[in-house]
Amino acid sequence: MKQYLHHDEWLIIEKGLEPENNKISESVFSLGNGKFGQRANFEEKYSGPTLLGNYMAGVYYPDKTRVGWWKNGYPEYFAKVLNAANWVGINVNINGEELDLHQAKVSDFQRILNMKEGYLNRSFKAEMANGNQISVDTTRFNSIADDEVAAIEYKIKVENFSGQLDLTPYIDFDVENEDSNYDEKFWVEVQKEVESGVGYVVAKTKKTDFYVCSGMSIVLLKNGQPVDFEATSNERDKYIENVITLAVEAGDEITLYKYVSNVSSFYHEKEGIINDGKKGVQRALNTGFAKMLEAQKAAWAKKWEESDITIEGDVSAQQGIRFNIFQLNQTYTGEDERLNIGPKGFTGEKYGGSTYWDTEAYCLPFYLSTADQKVARQLLVYRHNHLPRAIENAEKLGFSDGAALYPMVTMNGEECHNEWEITFEEIHRNGAIAYAIFDYVQYTADADYLSEYGFEVLLGIARFWAQRVSYSTARKQYVILGVTGPNEYENNVNNNWYTNLMASWCLEYAEEAAKYVKTNAPEKYAQLVTQTNFDADKEIAKWTDIRTNMYYPRSEELNIFLQQDNYLDKEQILVKDLDPKHLPLVKNWSWDRILRSIYIKQADTLQGMYFFEERFDDETIRRHFEFYEPRTVHESSLSPCVHSILAAKLGMEDKAYEMYVRTARLDLDDYNSDADEGCHITSMAGTWMSVVKGFGGMRIKNDTLSLEPFLPKQWQSYSFKIRFRGALLKVNVTKDGTNISNESSESITLMLHGEAVTV
Ligand code: BGC
Repeated sequence: MKQYLHHDEWLIIEKGLEPENNKISESVFSLGNGKFGQRANFEEKYSGPTLLGNYMAGVYYPDKTRVGWWKNGYPEYFAKVLNAANWVGINVNINGEELDLHQAKVSDFQRILNMKEGYLNRSFKAEMANGNQISVDTTRFNSIADDEVAAIEYKIKVENFSGQLDLTPYIDFDVENEDSNYDEKFWVEVQKEVESGVGYVVAKTKKTDFYVCSGMSIVLLKNGQPVDFEATSNERDKYIENVITLAVEAGDEITLYKYVSNVSSFYHEKEGIINDGKKGVQRALNTGFAKMLEAQKAAWAKKWEESDITIEGDVSAQQGIRFNIFQLNQTYTGEDERLNIGPKGFTGEKYGGSTYWDTEAYCLPFYLSTADQKVARQLLVYRHNHLPRAIENAEKLGFSDGAALYPMVTMNGEECHNEWEITFEEIHRNGAIAYAIFDYVQYTADADYLSEYGFEVLLGIARFWAQRVSYSTARKQYVILGVTGPNEYENNVNNNWYTNLMASWCLEYAEEAAKYVKTNAPEKYAQLVTQTNFDADKEIAKWTDIRTNMYYPRSEELNIFLQQDNYLDKEQILVKDLDPKHLPLVKNWSWDRILRSIYIKQADTLQGMYFFEERFDDETIRRHFEFYEPRTVHESSLSPCVHSILAAKLGMEDKAYEMYVRTARLDLDDYNSDADEGCHITSMAGTWMSVVKGFGGMRIKNDTLSLEPFLPKQWQSYSFKIRFRGALLKVNVTKDGTNISNESSESITLMLHGEAVTV
């Protein structure tokens, strides 16, 4: 854990340049606009610890899977979130000496992320070995109003010398992925153009053949006046630069504007993509920095209008929640059904893929409540589009007859994860995809989604479970063998309670959906029956038999469900009794030791109780919480939010708050010592849930919105906004009670602490 960032309601502030924090800050201060994003790498050279990262939505590389022992069914490749062109770079050279922020004497360093208005600012003073001093103030943003362009304002003040200042803005596609199996570079140059003031590089990815054009146009001011300059243009493979040489003296202020566009063949024809890049750069240039920034502020104001959460009386909690909402809004806008929410978004390359079960289990509720219904629908349609691949994926593993196993990790529907205990065994992911359909239909009442897309997906998933269970003649029950539950600190277990519960719930929901479609869209149903060879009577009878005879591991003595068979055989030393120096376990223990321990990486049994809370009374949930929470190390970012929500439900307010802080400030305070690799974007939606579902107690009960808010004692008040079926509600919780206002023209009746109120 590291706490070097300053607290502020709207800003993230770093003061002082500490090399050991730089990679963490590069993640935290990342910018994105749904189409492209990048880590907060410096414009200038920095030879200290850094991870260069620029990412284009949907652009990936299928790196050949590297495993010692090949197993049938392994995917051919592991997708890489691809590091694309470095377009932020501006080298600075003073009287022949290059500015390297790791070598120069840097003072007054400050990095600020303005979350309210969506830009990054950095300022510092630097003294070179030759004694020359400059002050720099730079601001940049990725436009969300025009999402293929970005702009940098780079201001240098000459402090104490006269002589020559060279500024070299560049575009560099000659980059690597830190995470690459064979140290291969993934880009090949297609075309480049450079002349004084402008330059473009078009590169394509090997294998996947994505084309990307990144280009720049430069404008220069000296002491506020435009300067006509003649830059020297240089180029090499996948790289162009402009060297701008200026004669300067003490007191001069130089401002360089770098207008950039990043366009990809995801949205443009490959042939002639350079022209689309040029158009983007031209648009930015015509608009100019000040107007672009105004549009950026206005666009962010609109986003905050819809999704802000305010907290009074606790600046660190306020900053935490806004940081989470800011990053979510930077990552996914819901405009493109081919895109999804990667665990690291645009903040790092780890996790190599865009889509995990995180989207359905954690992110969907955020988008359901804070954006137009079509955004959440888009996320579901994404999986519907991948259904044929999920069926192929299951076939590769030996399943048949339309059984679908969605991949653990994917970019385009194909599995691209290659650890056997996850690829083949972490099959609970299939349940989350079904659950998201349920969640969406329950929240929006758009049950027609089932006829249009949902049922087909549910059918494929139900068929998978029906084939994946085994009938144990010894138990006379169905069991599910050889799985990994959400708790990845256990592999290849039998009867993971969560997985068994999910499987049987999926069978039940698929049956319900079949009945709905048959009654409400008979023609569509008939068409689906033919298309999928659905033998309703036979298949549903089988599903019913399985779900009513499913085995769930239990301890009668403790009166709880066990996470999996034999969980109690393990040595029961609680997390509180562990020497803290062992934590995080993943960094300090061998995998063997982790697997044999009781420690739970992330909510597992409790994840099931969170999803299906109405099936368990509070006392049952409490018993399970009291048993499992002391054994959970929360080394997955997805864990604390679920514990926070359950603790809130059980009235364990302090625990709920403790877990909230952990999820809200996970990256800001680097709880798990891994923020350097990128932020935990998908768990950020969990933070939002901790407030709205946890402290706000939001649920849908009997088709009605229900709220049971309480105010954590550390706060004066808090408020959040939710969209619910046409209504836009602002819920403000204070010491005096809860105030709900309706900012739409639709009136709504909801339950507040069990009483019906109409707003
Ligand atoms: C978690 C998974 C999650 C993945 C991506 C892993 O550490 O255990 O549940 O899907 O990260 O966020």
